[in-house]
Amino acid sequence: VTERTLVLVKPDGVARGLVGEVISRLEAKGLRLVAAELRTLPREVAEQHYGEHRDKPFFPSLVEFITGGPLVALVVEGPRAIEAFRALAGATDPVKAGPGTIRGDLALEVQRNIVHGSDSPESAAREIGLFFPALT
Ligand code: CMP
Repeated sequence: VTERTLVLVKPDGVARGLVGEVISRLEAKGLRLVAAELRTLPREVAEQHYGEHRDKPFFPSLVEFITGGPLVALVVEGPRAIEAFRALAGATDPVKAGPGTIRGDLALEVQRNIVHGSDSPESAAREIGLFFPALT
């Protein structure tokens, strides 16, 4: 069953020149790009995207970070794409993410963890709708 997921190369990943590295890894895995765009998020879109974290202590800092520079938004497709990309990304905390994962190999800080991937079919549908309404 083909599935779609929203992937973000966050502003830290773009600033560090890791867009190609992230895309290479997901393409090498066999996932396919459906949409890709460099953009700087308005605050309102960032707050909607991370709505489930609205009450967390790190929310203001997260919104600041994610709107602080251009990011690359991707829609990626493949069998079990949501789980497949989350496995490639590794744990949210890069120090706990295993070697061989994007965060495990390339990041050290929980906020500046290079990538985001939708965590469920419901989030994927919501996030793809937010970033690429023409696809839904
Ligand atoms: P992401 O997978 O995009 O989902 C929520 C994001 O919030 C997460 O990656 C991190 O960038 C950030 N985040 C999660 N936990 C923390 C934390 N404890 N402190 C700061 N940022 C966090």
